[in-house]
Amino acid sequence: MKEKLEVNELRKGMFVCELDRPWLESPFLFQGFLVDTDNKVDELRQLCKYVYIDTEKGEDNLSKSPSPDSETSKIKPTHETDCVSQRPYLTNFEEEIKPAGKLREEASNYMAELFDDIRAGNSIDSDKTRKAVAGMVASILRNPDALMLLNNLRDNSEYAIAHSLNVCTLTLAFGRYLGFKPAELIEIGMGALLHDVGEIRVPKEIMSKKGLLSKEENLLMQTHTQHGVDILKHSNGIPDTVIEIARTHHERSNGQGYPSGLREDDIAYFARIVGIVDVYDSVTSNHNHRDSINSTEALKNMYNWRNEMFDAKLVEQFIQCLGIYPVGSIVELDNGEVGIVISVALDKRLQPKLMLVRDEFKKAYTPPRIINLALHSGDSQSGRYEINKVLEPGDYGIDLKNYLLREMSVELELVQ
Ligand SMILES: [Fe+2]
Ligand SMILES: [Fe+2]
Repeated sequence: MKEKLEVNELRKGMFVCELDRPWLESPFLFQGFLVDTDNKVDELRQLCKYVYIDTEKGEDNLSKSPSPDSETSKIKPTHETDCVSQRPYLTNFEEEIKPAGKLREEASNYMAELFDDIRAGNSIDSDKTRKAVAGMVASILRNPDALMLLNNLRDNSEYAIAHSLNVCTLTLAFGRYLGFKPAELIEIGMGALLHDVGEIRVPKEIMSKKGLLSKEENLLMQTHTQHGVDILKHSNGIPDTVIEIARTHHERSNGQGYPSGLREDDIAYFARIVGIVDVYDSVTSNHNHRDSINSTEALKNMYNWRNEMFDAKLVEQFIQCLGIYPVGSIVELDNGEVGIVISVALDKRLQPKLMLVRDEFKKAYTPPRIINLALHSGDSQSGRYEINKVLEPGDYGIDLKNYLLREMSVELELVQ
């Protein structure tokens, strides 16, 4: 049960499910966490006037199992996990960004080749796909933030390639969060990379049409799932899971998806995951058929659609995985300084690591400054290092690509 609490009354062992910050307006409450240290109590006291706690989830209640008719118990995936990842980061962001840039470039080149091959009537070399994904899995396991940041680059590569790489990266980061083993990550990563491969056989005029599709065009677009299955089945060594992801990533819990109108449990667990990530990347990317929305809006909408369209629990876990300031967000601090989120620790979601790119007068920092809010938010009497709001991409002329190229030394070829 949700209860409002003055922050002074907050104690260790309580489960906070919502804060009073404007960007956390109900129902966007997925910063839920157990207050397990005095440090967290202090942080919340600095940040909020009041919080909402979930009295069912406090430490006294952790051993209770969900009631038989609870929302959670209705969903019985074949591969469900409650075990979110506590895997430590093995590299820091500054170390990982360069190898991640190289991996993204290699994967991008590979996808361009693969699309050409399929257009020429050849099948997919599953070993090469596996190899491309294995490199990304290794980077994501070391530190997911670098590849995740590269998802935000609006480069000039073909939309289909960028979308495949983005969905693969996000799926791997989410799989890492869910505690998947490396072999599972490779399999779901291959599925994510190839989920839309059938689009190659959809007429080009439809794929590149600006504006909304007609009913007939939409039906043609929907054939990409079956085309994908055909292409993958005619290639050697493609795991069944990968084919299943291509077939069912547009199925929805309420049976309104396509191609088969499957419902909830009939949709494979890995396909539900890729389905969620696919929608998130589609709505946050500029696309011929529509304009993008920012990540906060996307997550709010997906939360509202969680029961009808998705596996509700997975949507909640996805929001928890990305956090309130996903990597790549541009944020303004209380004192007016502006930074790009480059890293988010799971236990310090409200205090990410930033690359500060504008001072309080919005004048460029040259070079930018890296600051870890988790280490500095308590240092300033004026509350200088607290995030005030999320800005839109492009505000104050901030070009993420520019910063990555110049300041983080990512290879130029990556984002030409
Ligand atoms: Fe698709
Ligand atoms: Fe897609």
